[in-house]
Amino acid sequence: MVKQTVLTGIKATGELHLGNYIGAIKPALQIAKHENVNPMYFIADYHALTKVHEQQTLQEYSYGIAAAWLALGLNPKRCLFYRQSDIPEIFELVWILSCFSSKGLMNRAHAYKAIKEQNIDQGYDKDDGVNMGIFSYPILMAADILLFQAKEVPVGRDQIQHIEIARDIATSFNSQYGNVFTLPQSRVSEQAVLPGLDGRKMSKSYGNTIPLFAQKDIMKKLINKIMTDSSKPNERKDPDQSTIFTIYKEFATNEQTEKMRQQFYDGISWGEAKQELFSIVSETLEEPRVIYNEFMTDKAQLDRILQEGAERARDIAVPFLKEVKKTIGL
Ligand code: ADP
Ligand code: TRP
Repeated sequence: MVKQTVLTGIKATGELHLGNYIGAIKPALQIAKHENVNPMYFIADYHALTKVHEQQTLQEYSYGIAAAWLALGLNPKRCLFYRQSDIPEIFELVWILSCFSSKGLMNRAHAYKAIKEQNIDQGYDKDDGVNMGIFSYPILMAADILLFQAKEVPVGRDQIQHIEIARDIATSFNSQYGNVFTLPQSRVSEQAVLPGLDGRKMSKSYGNTIPLFAQKDIMKKLINKIMTDSSKPNERKDPDQSTIFTIYKEFATNEQTEKMRQQFYDGISWGEAKQELFSIVSETLEEPRVIYNEFMTDKAQLDRILQEGAERARDIAVPFLKEVKKTIGL
Protein backbone atom coordinates (compact mmCIF):
# COMPACT_ATOMS: atom_id res chain seq x y z
CA MET A 1 0.00 0.00 0.00
CA VAL A 2 1.46 3.37 -1.00
CA LYS A 3 0.86 5.78 1.82
CA GLN A 4 -0.11 9.33 1.03
CA THR A 5 1.89 12.09 2.64
CA VAL A 6 -0.35 14.53 4.46
CA LEU A 7 1.60 17.55 5.64
CA THR A 8 0.74 20.70 7.48
CA GLY A 9 2.54 23.53 9.24
CA ILE A 10 1.46 25.29 12.40
CA LYS A 11 2.59 28.88 12.64
CA ALA A 12 4.05 29.76 16.01
CA THR A 13 2.51 33.20 16.37
CA GLY A 14 0.39 32.95 19.48
CA GLU A 15 -1.20 31.02 22.24
CA LEU A 16 -3.54 28.30 20.97
CA HIS A 17 -7.26 28.72 21.58
CA LEU A 18 -10.33 26.48 21.51
CA GLY A 19 -10.98 27.45 17.86
CA ASN A 20 -7.52 26.23 16.81
CA TYR A 21 -8.17 22.95 18.59
CA ILE A 22 -11.58 22.27 17.07
CA GLY A 23 -10.80 23.67 13.60
CA ALA A 24 -7.23 22.49 13.07
CA ILE A 25 -5.65 20.26 15.72
CA LYS A 26 -8.48 17.79 16.28
CA PRO A 27 -9.15 17.12 12.57
CA ALA A 28 -5.40 16.82 11.83
CA LEU A 29 -5.00 14.29 14.65
CA GLN A 30 -7.92 12.33 13.25
CA ILE A 31 -6.37 12.26 9.77
CA ALA A 32 -3.07 11.08 11.29
CA LYS A 33 -4.79 7.98 12.62
CA HIS A 34 -5.68 6.65 9.15
CA GLU A 35 -3.67 3.61 8.09
CA ASN A 36 -3.03 4.79 4.54
CA VAL A 37 -1.65 8.16 5.55
CA ASN A 38 1.90 9.26 6.21
CA PRO A 39 1.40 12.32 8.43
CA MET A 40 3.99 15.12 8.69
CA TYR A 41 3.17 18.00 11.01
CA PHE A 42 5.65 20.74 11.81
CA ILE A 43 6.11 23.97 13.74
CA ALA A 44 6.45 26.75 11.18
CA ASP A 45 8.80 28.85 13.28
CA TYR A 46 10.49 30.56 10.34
CA HIS A 47 7.06 31.62 9.10
CA ALA A 48 6.43 33.06 12.54
CA LEU A 49 9.63 35.07 12.24
CA THR A 50 7.97 37.21 9.58
CA LYS A 51 6.01 38.74 12.50
CA VAL A 52 7.53 37.75 15.85
CA HIS A 53 10.80 39.60 16.41
CA GLU A 54 11.40 38.83 20.06
CA GLN A 55 13.60 35.93 21.13
CA GLN A 56 11.67 34.67 24.16
CA THR A 57 8.26 35.13 22.62
CA LEU A 58 9.17 33.11 19.55
CA GLN A 59 10.64 30.36 21.73
CA GLU A 60 7.62 30.20 24.04
CA TYR A 61 5.17 30.07 21.14
CA SER A 62 7.13 27.29 19.42
CA TYR A 63 7.44 25.16 22.54
CA GLY A 64 3.84 25.89 23.50
CA ILE A 65 2.55 24.63 20.19
CA ALA A 66 4.73 21.53 20.24
CA ALA A 67 3.64 20.73 23.81
CA ALA A 68 -0.03 21.28 22.94
CA TRP A 69 -0.05 18.94 19.94
CA LEU A 70 1.72 16.21 21.91
CA ALA A 71 -0.57 16.69 24.90
CA LEU A 72 -3.64 16.44 22.69
CA GLY A 73 -2.59 13.08 21.32
CA LEU A 74 -0.05 13.49 18.52
CA ASN A 75 2.05 10.34 18.47
CA PRO A 76 5.58 11.29 17.33
CA LYS A 77 6.35 7.66 16.45
CA ARG A 78 3.52 7.54 13.96
CA CYS A 79 3.64 11.14 12.77
CA LEU A 80 6.76 13.00 11.67
CA PHE A 81 6.75 15.98 14.02
CA TYR A 82 9.51 18.54 13.64
CA ARG A 83 10.55 22.19 13.59
CA GLN A 84 10.85 23.85 10.20
CA SER A 85 14.04 25.61 11.30
CA ASP A 86 15.73 22.23 11.91
CA ILE A 87 15.49 21.34 8.20
CA PRO A 88 18.05 23.45 6.31
CA GLU A 89 17.13 21.74 3.02
CA ILE A 90 13.87 23.70 3.04
CA PHE A 91 15.86 26.88 2.60
CA GLU A 92 17.97 25.62 -0.25
CA LEU A 93 14.76 24.69 -1.96
CA VAL A 94 13.33 28.15 -1.22
CA TRP A 95 16.00 29.72 -3.39
CA ILE A 96 15.50 27.24 -6.19
CA LEU A 97 11.73 27.77 -6.12
CA SER A 98 12.19 31.55 -5.95
CA CYS A 99 13.77 31.35 -9.36
CA PHE A 100 10.58 29.74 -10.67
CA SER A 101 8.15 32.08 -8.94
CA SER A 102 7.04 35.17 -10.76
CA LYS A 103 7.04 38.36 -8.74
CA GLY A 104 3.50 39.00 -9.97
CA LEU A 105 2.37 35.81 -8.26
CA MET A 106 3.74 37.12 -4.96
CA ASN A 107 2.12 40.52 -5.52
CA ARG A 108 -1.24 38.75 -5.62
CA ALA A 109 -0.70 36.65 -2.47
CA HIS A 110 -3.40 37.73 -0.06
CA ALA A 111 -1.36 38.45 3.09
CA TYR A 112 0.90 40.88 1.24
CA LYS A 113 -1.98 42.29 -0.80
CA ALA A 114 -3.99 42.99 2.36
CA ILE A 115 -1.13 44.96 3.97
CA LYS A 116 -0.48 46.81 0.72
CA GLU A 117 -4.12 47.82 0.32
CA GLN A 118 -4.34 48.95 3.93
CA ASN A 119 -1.18 51.05 3.47
CA ILE A 120 -2.60 52.67 0.36
CA ASP A 121 -5.93 53.40 2.11
CA GLN A 122 -4.10 55.05 4.97
CA GLY A 123 -1.92 57.11 2.66
CA TYR A 124 1.35 55.30 3.47
CA ASP A 125 3.88 53.91 1.04
CA LYS A 126 2.37 50.67 -0.26
CA ASP A 127 5.23 48.57 1.11
CA ASP A 128 5.36 50.20 4.51
CA GLY A 129 6.13 47.57 7.18
CA VAL A 130 6.50 44.77 4.62
CA ASN A 131 9.64 42.69 5.08
CA MET A 132 10.82 40.29 2.40
CA GLY A 133 9.77 37.39 4.62
CA ILE A 134 6.15 38.49 4.37
CA PHE A 135 6.49 39.06 0.64
CA SER A 136 7.98 35.66 -0.12
CA TYR A 137 6.04 33.80 2.59
CA PRO A 138 4.25 31.64 -0.02
CA ILE A 139 7.59 30.42 -1.44
CA LEU A 140 8.73 29.16 1.96
CA MET A 141 5.39 27.45 2.30
CA ALA A 142 5.76 25.89 -1.16
CA ALA A 143 9.20 24.57 -0.15
CA ASP A 144 7.76 23.07 3.07
CA ILE A 145 5.27 21.15 1.00
CA LEU A 146 7.17 20.27 -2.19
CA LEU A 147 10.32 19.05 -0.42
CA PHE A 148 8.30 16.19 1.07
CA GLN A 149 6.14 15.50 -1.99
CA ALA A 150 3.04 16.02 0.08
CA LYS A 151 -0.17 15.17 -1.69
CA GLU A 152 -2.63 16.59 0.78
CA VAL A 153 -2.30 19.68 2.92
CA PRO A 154 -4.90 20.21 5.65
CA VAL A 155 -5.39 23.96 6.11
CA GLY A 156 -7.90 26.61 7.07
CA ARG A 157 -9.72 28.41 4.23
CA ASP A 158 -7.38 31.40 4.40
CA GLN A 159 -4.47 29.18 3.31
CA ILE A 160 -6.04 27.71 0.15
CA GLN A 161 -4.44 30.40 -2.02
CA HIS A 162 -1.00 29.46 -0.69
CA ILE A 163 -1.49 25.83 -1.73
CA GLU A 164 -2.58 27.03 -5.17
CA ILE A 165 0.62 29.08 -5.36
CA ALA A 166 2.68 26.00 -4.41
CA ARG A 167 0.97 24.12 -7.25
CA ASP A 168 1.70 26.99 -9.67
CA ILE A 169 5.37 27.06 -8.71
CA ALA A 170 5.65 23.25 -8.97
CA THR A 171 3.91 23.29 -12.34
CA SER A 172 6.26 25.97 -13.64
CA PHE A 173 9.28 23.90 -12.52
CA ASN A 174 7.86 20.62 -13.83
CA SER A 175 7.06 22.09 -17.25
CA GLN A 176 10.78 22.69 -17.71
CA TYR A 177 12.24 19.58 -16.04
CA GLY A 178 9.56 16.86 -16.06
CA ASN A 179 7.49 15.61 -13.17
CA VAL A 180 9.86 16.33 -10.32
CA PHE A 181 7.40 17.79 -7.83
CA THR A 182 4.15 16.24 -6.67
CA LEU A 183 1.28 18.71 -7.03
CA PRO A 184 -0.29 19.28 -3.61
CA GLN A 185 -3.95 19.71 -2.85
CA SER A 186 -5.52 21.58 0.02
CA ARG A 187 -7.84 19.74 2.36
CA VAL A 188 -10.14 22.10 4.18
CA SER A 189 -11.62 20.88 7.41
CA GLU A 190 -15.40 20.48 7.47
CA GLN A 191 -15.34 21.55 11.08
CA ALA A 192 -17.48 24.43 12.19
CA VAL A 193 -15.89 27.80 12.78
CA LEU A 194 -15.95 28.30 16.52
CA PRO A 195 -17.31 31.66 17.68
CA GLY A 196 -15.43 33.66 20.30
CA LEU A 197 -16.54 35.59 23.38
CA ASP A 198 -18.20 38.31 21.28
CA GLY A 199 -19.87 35.92 18.82
CA ARG A 200 -17.45 36.67 15.95
CA LYS A 201 -15.02 33.95 14.78
CA MET A 202 -12.73 33.08 17.68
CA SER A 203 -9.43 34.59 16.61
CA LYS A 204 -6.37 36.04 18.24
CA SER A 205 -6.70 39.06 15.97
CA TYR A 206 -10.09 39.85 17.57
CA GLY A 207 -8.92 39.32 21.16
CA ASN A 208 -12.02 37.20 21.81
CA THR A 209 -10.39 33.84 22.47
CA ILE A 210 -10.49 31.21 25.18
CA PRO A 211 -6.91 29.89 25.41
CA LEU A 212 -6.75 26.11 25.24
CA PHE A 213 -4.72 25.66 28.40
CA ALA A 214 -5.79 28.70 30.39
CA GLN A 215 -5.85 28.06 34.12
CA LYS A 216 -9.24 26.84 35.25
CA ASP A 217 -10.26 30.01 37.08
CA ILE A 218 -9.31 32.12 34.07
CA MET A 219 -11.18 29.79 31.72
CA LYS A 220 -14.24 30.04 33.95
CA LYS A 221 -14.07 33.85 33.96
CA LEU A 222 -13.74 33.92 30.19
CA ILE A 223 -16.66 31.54 29.66
CA ASN A 224 -18.73 33.77 31.93
CA LYS A 225 -17.93 36.67 29.59
CA ILE A 226 -19.47 34.98 26.52
CA MET A 227 -22.06 37.35 25.11
CA THR A 228 -25.69 36.20 25.27
CA ASP A 229 -29.03 37.76 24.43
CA SER A 230 -31.25 39.19 27.16
CA SER A 231 -33.59 36.21 27.49
CA LYS A 232 -34.46 35.36 31.09
CA PRO A 233 -34.17 32.03 32.95
CA ASN A 234 -37.10 29.76 32.02
CA GLU A 235 -37.46 31.51 28.66
CA ARG A 236 -37.02 29.24 25.61
CA LYS A 237 -33.64 29.80 23.94
CA ASP A 238 -32.48 29.03 20.42
CA PRO A 239 -29.41 26.77 20.76
CA ASP A 240 -28.33 27.31 17.17
CA GLN A 241 -27.99 31.05 17.74
CA SER A 242 -25.96 30.62 20.88
CA THR A 243 -22.17 30.79 21.17
CA ILE A 244 -22.38 28.68 24.32
CA PHE A 245 -24.21 25.85 22.57
CA THR A 246 -22.03 26.06 19.45
CA ILE A 247 -18.89 25.56 21.52
CA TYR A 248 -20.56 22.99 23.80
CA LYS A 249 -21.51 20.67 20.98
CA GLU A 250 -17.93 20.47 19.71
CA PHE A 251 -16.88 18.96 23.04
CA ALA A 252 -19.95 16.86 23.77
CA THR A 253 -21.19 13.45 22.67
CA ASN A 254 -24.31 13.40 20.47
CA GLU A 255 -26.33 12.36 23.46
CA GLN A 256 -25.05 15.23 25.61
CA THR A 257 -25.67 17.66 22.76
CA GLU A 258 -29.28 16.58 22.36
CA LYS A 259 -29.83 16.85 26.10
CA MET A 260 -28.41 20.36 26.13
CA ARG A 261 -30.54 21.31 23.12
CA GLN A 262 -33.61 20.26 25.07
CA GLN A 263 -32.42 22.25 28.09
CA PHE A 264 -32.20 25.33 25.88
CA TYR A 265 -35.79 24.76 24.74
CA ASP A 266 -36.79 24.28 28.36
CA GLY A 267 -35.28 27.63 29.32
CA ILE A 268 -31.94 26.86 30.98
CA SER A 269 -30.50 30.07 32.45
CA TRP A 270 -27.41 31.55 30.77
CA GLY A 271 -25.52 31.10 34.04
CA GLU A 272 -26.26 27.38 34.14
CA ALA A 273 -25.48 26.95 30.45
CA LYS A 274 -22.10 28.60 30.99
CA GLN A 275 -21.43 26.32 33.94
CA GLU A 276 -22.23 23.26 31.79
CA LEU A 277 -19.92 24.55 29.07
CA PHE A 278 -17.12 25.15 31.54
CA SER A 279 -17.52 21.63 32.98
CA ILE A 280 -17.34 19.86 29.65
CA VAL A 281 -14.45 21.92 28.26
CA SER A 282 -12.34 21.68 31.39
CA GLU A 283 -13.07 17.97 31.76
CA THR A 284 -12.01 17.28 28.16
CA LEU A 285 -8.82 19.28 28.61
CA GLU A 286 -7.98 18.05 32.11
CA GLU A 287 -5.56 15.31 31.15
CA PRO A 288 -4.00 17.15 28.18
CA ARG A 289 -3.44 20.15 30.48
CA VAL A 290 -1.37 18.00 32.85
CA ILE A 291 0.73 16.61 30.01
CA TYR A 292 1.08 20.10 28.48
CA ASN A 293 2.39 21.50 31.77
CA GLU A 294 4.82 18.60 32.10
CA PHE A 295 6.25 19.28 28.65
CA MET A 296 6.47 23.00 29.29
CA THR A 297 8.61 22.34 32.34
CA ASP A 298 10.80 19.86 30.44
CA LYS A 299 11.77 21.64 27.23
CA ALA A 300 14.72 19.26 26.76
CA GLN A 301 12.19 16.50 26.22
CA LEU A 302 10.41 18.61 23.59
CA ASP A 303 13.72 19.34 21.88
CA ARG A 304 14.51 15.63 21.80
CA ILE A 305 11.21 14.73 20.20
CA LEU A 306 11.40 17.53 17.64
CA GLN A 307 15.02 16.78 16.76
CA GLU A 308 14.30 13.12 16.29
CA GLY A 309 11.47 14.11 13.97
CA ALA A 310 13.77 16.46 12.08
CA GLU A 311 16.33 13.70 11.57
CA ARG A 312 13.72 11.40 10.12
CA ALA A 313 12.40 14.21 7.93
CA ARG A 314 15.91 14.95 6.69
CA ASP A 315 16.30 11.31 5.67
CA ILE A 316 13.65 12.14 3.09
CA ALA A 317 14.70 15.73 2.34
CA VAL A 318 18.42 15.26 1.72
CA PRO A 319 18.24 12.69 -1.13
CA PHE A 320 15.26 14.43 -2.73
CA LEU A 321 16.97 17.83 -2.74
CA LYS A 322 20.05 16.19 -4.26
CA GLU A 323 17.85 14.91 -7.09
CA VAL A 324 16.34 18.35 -7.61
CA LYS A 325 19.78 19.98 -7.75
CA LYS A 326 21.02 17.39 -10.21
CA THR A 327 17.97 18.00 -12.36
CA ILE A 328 18.65 21.73 -12.65
CA GLY A 329 22.35 21.20 -13.31
CA LEU A 330 23.94 21.80 -9.91
P1 ADP B 1 -6.21 32.99 14.51
O1 ADP B 1 -7.45 33.36 13.71
O2 ADP B 1 -6.49 32.95 15.96
O3 ADP B 1 -5.04 33.87 14.16
P2 ADP B 1 -4.86 31.06 12.92
O4 ADP B 1 -5.16 31.85 11.69
O5 ADP B 1 -3.45 31.02 13.43
O6 ADP B 1 -5.83 31.52 14.09
O7 ADP B 1 -5.40 29.58 12.67
C1 ADP B 1 -4.68 28.39 12.86
C2 ADP B 1 -5.60 27.24 12.48
O8 ADP B 1 -6.76 27.20 13.34
C3 ADP B 1 -6.17 27.35 11.06
O9 ADP B 1 -6.22 26.05 10.49
C4 ADP B 1 -7.56 27.90 11.26
O10 ADP B 1 -8.45 27.51 10.23
C5 ADP B 1 -7.97 27.28 12.59
N1 ADP B 1 -8.87 28.19 13.30
C6 ADP B 1 -8.58 29.42 13.77
N2 ADP B 1 -9.64 29.98 14.37
C7 ADP B 1 -10.65 29.08 14.28
C8 ADP B 1 -12.02 29.07 14.72
N3 ADP B 1 -12.54 30.09 15.38
N4 ADP B 1 -12.78 27.99 14.44
C9 ADP B 1 -12.25 26.93 13.77
N5 ADP B 1 -10.98 26.88 13.34
C10 ADP B 1 -10.16 27.94 13.58
N1 TRP C 1 0.99 29.47 6.55
C1 TRP C 1 0.32 28.51 7.39
C2 TRP C 1 -0.61 29.25 8.35
O1 TRP C 1 -0.49 30.44 8.53
C3 TRP C 1 1.30 27.67 8.14
C4 TRP C 1 2.17 26.85 7.22
C5 TRP C 1 3.49 27.05 6.97
C6 TRP C 1 1.76 25.73 6.45
N2 TRP C 1 3.94 26.13 6.08
C7 TRP C 1 2.92 25.30 5.73
C8 TRP C 1 0.56 25.06 6.29
C9 TRP C 1 2.87 24.21 4.87
C10 TRP C 1 0.52 23.97 5.43
C11 TRP C 1 1.66 23.56 4.71
O2 TRP C 1 -1.47 28.65 8.97
